[in-house]
Amino acid sequence: METSYPDRSTELLEGSHPSPVLSFSEPRSLTLSVRASALVFEDPASRQLLEHIERIAPSDATVLIIGETGTGKELIARHIHALSPRRNGPFGALNCAALSETLIESELFGHEKGAFTGAVSSKDGWFETANNGTLFLDEVGDLPLGLQAKLLRVLQEREVVKVGARRATPVNVRVIAATNVNLEEAVEAGRFRADLYYRFNVAMVQLVPLRDRPGDILPLARHFLKLYGERLGYKDARLTPEAERLLLNYDWPGNIRELENAIHRALLVCPGDHLRPEDFKLSGLRPQATAAPVSITSTASLEAAVRQLCERAPPKLFELIESTVLRTALEFCEHNQVQTARLLAISRNVLRHRMALYGLLPNSQGEKANTSGSVYAPTRSSHTLAPGCCD
Ligand SMILES: Nc1ncnc2c1ncn2[C@@H]1O[C@H](COP(=O)(O)OP(=O)(O)OP(=O)(O)O)[C@@H](O)[C@H]1O
Ligand SMILES: [Mg+2]
Repeated sequence: METSYPDRSTELLEGSHPSPVLSFSEPRSLTLSVRASALVFEDPASRQLLEHIERIAPSDATVLIIGETGTGKELIARHIHALSPRRNGPFGALNCAALSETLIESELFGHEKGAFTGAVSSKDGWFETANNGTLFLDEVGDLPLGLQAKLLRVLQEREVVKVGARRATPVNVRVIAATNVNLEEAVEAGRFRADLYYRFNVAMVQLVPLRDRPGDILPLARHFLKLYGERLGYKDARLTPEAERLLLNYDWPGNIRELENAIHRALLVCPGDHLRPEDFKLSGLRPQATAAPVSITSTASLEAAVRQLCERAPPKLFELIESTVLRTALEFCEHNQVQTARLLAISRNVLRHRMALYGLLPNSQGEKANTSGSVYAPTRSSHTLAPGCCD
């Protein structure tokens, strides 16, 4: 499934800000790179994600996007903006990690003339520039603690105070934050304010690494082949079956961006219009004979997650894990119990018994009563709005 952006006239703000990331409205306006103007979502995990995004986009809720590098955080932020009532307003994107601590406050909130050496005129910050639109704050995990307090105030009060100003200016901005670091760990380590974390995390979008959504690899590869093929004059470019196998067996540590670059590079070096394995130079590529199937990679990340849980030793760990497995499998199978039982290789009776234990049976007040004493509580997942806060 490809989701295309509507064609809209756009306004570029390049030059009015020193740089980190520019941008307004529409990906096609970013002339320097072939930014995707369509999103590819083929794997079941991605389709579920798309549904989740479509559900949260129309609200004004602050969104926290979590994902490894290159998984499409910025593209998803743009998509949320494009699906929201703010779509005709500006979309500003700021990479918090790209600015020094001294610059970032004036970049975000603006400054008055004479507020500091070099402030020869007053300037609006990104919050004011994105007024009536959406502001995408990338790499929020890198925000200095002092600034986190100021940002929290802006999100609560919906007004900004320029550096050197006495009065606040009201702003109407939807914030989408993104991070590739584990913010919960950063909170525990005292590097990130818990109250700001909860403010950001009104709705969460967790992007799955490309290696864990293998159904997207070939559709994305074909999408980039078309995109770059047209640009480079290879209209009929395609992958040989061996090249397809190579791409499917690779781990993609740099995720979609790495795949995009790999296709672009291969198109540049291939002699004809059939891309062969030798046209690809994949970093850290394992020989195909020993390449681990994707399921083993997934098992490794599952083991790592369980190990982390063991270190934290929450109460009733086994029940927590089991209820999470059941809930995730049910969501994956769109709550079809027969399919879920088949997927988990257990009988439907056993499935229903375990579901009752964790209060997962639909409309089952009586059965839910059985769960007293169970540790199961609906945890925040990519499909649920975080409790307790609504903008
Ligand atoms: N679902 C998708 N369909 C098509 N192209 C995509 C998709 N997701 C990401 N891309 C493309 O992959 C590249 C990386 O996406 P993006 O910049 O949004 O990732 P990111 O998570 O913000 O990366 P980083 O962590 O490095 O900032 C971009 O060129 C984007 O257009
Ligand atoms: Mg990004």
